[in-house]
Amino acid sequence: THQWRGIIEEYRDRLPVSDTTPVVTLREGGTPLVPAQVLSERTGCEVHLKVEGANPTGSFKDRGMTMAITRAKEEGAKAVICASTGNTSASAAAYAVRAGMVCAVLVPQGKIALGKMGQALVHGAKILQVDGNFDDCLTLARGLSDNYPVALVNSVNPVRIEGQKTASFEIVDMLGDAPDIHVLPVGNAGNITAYWKGYTEYAADGVATKTPRMWGFQASGSAPIVRGEVVKDPSTIATAIRIGNPASWQFALAARDESGGFIDEVTDREILRAYRLLASQEGVFVEPASAASVAGLLKAAEQGKVDPGQRIVCTVTGNGLKDPDWAVAGAPQPVTVPVDAATAAERLGLA
Ligand code: F0G
Repeated sequence: THQWRGIIEEYRDRLPVSDTTPVVTLREGGTPLVPAQVLSERTGCEVHLKVEGANPTGSFKDRGMTMAITRAKEEGAKAVICASTGNTSASAAAYAVRAGMVCAVLVPQGKIALGKMGQALVHGAKILQVDGNFDDCLTLARGLSDNYPVALVNSVNPVRIEGQKTASFEIVDMLGDAPDIHVLPVGNAGNITAYWKGYTEYAADGVATKTPRMWGFQASGSAPIVRGEVVKDPSTIATAIRIGNPASWQFALAARDESGGFIDEVTDREILRAYRLLASQEGVFVEPASAASVAGLLKAAEQGKVDPGQRIVCTVTGNGLKDPDWAVAGAPQPVTVPVDAATAAERLGLA
């Protein structure tokens, strides 16, 4: 009976918890690091996918949320609040259930994927759809947590970053050292901040001999860091990263510069192409925002920025089932057949 115990138990000595901290966990983390055959062939590199959609609520947010809810519980919080493009709210709602807390979520009206809304609802969160974008939701959430008895569990809460840095630990533990390049989608920029923290901690302690270059990718319509200015009305089909004023902007710049990496943008078309490639050629079904990392790697390769022979990890942040509309859209409709083997065989091209 050996089961992965969740990131707090697995990495307890590297996280801000004590022996008496009441750990709230769904046994998040321990996610697959999957060799990507087609991407490796295309780039001449050794490419791996860190499949974060395999977390309990289907995204990387669970790593940060186990920490945030655990610490909120320790501090006696009865209620938590977050702003979200969908995944944070799904995760907060689930962990709040485990902790016996009330969960309030603020989401941009009409701009979150159906699966994520369903998760927040079924876990019993109190949902407000805000007539504004994610950035407006975050401003509102901060104001409420400042003035009312409710703890903020967005990644501006530093313990969220602590939890999320464990993904880097898992990668180094699995590969035996840090990769040469790490590629991530960037929205509110908490995750790139967290990965960089994890890699630098392991390198400082000699667990890894090096740190990777951090490559981050925003969606073109929501690329404030690339443009160097706030985007007032962000747009992209990748609703998870539809963010115009990232909270961890400065930390993302630090991760980029200290690692010798870069932050670039990918178009919705490039995101969808990578999304389909991952599903149809690697067997990994992710949500559109997650495909931004892979779209970025392919773009960089086409631009000649990827020297062959390197070890590259792309994080794919969320499960494809959260936003199935894009899987169905544009795909051929399945044909209907009678209960007849000959007809079925013929339609399947077997006969
Ligand atoms: N990928 C997915 C699937 C996400 O849900 C997010 C962020 C990101 C990438 C970007 O990560 O914000 O740390 O740079 N989702 C947040 C949310 C904003 O509310 O669920 P980031």
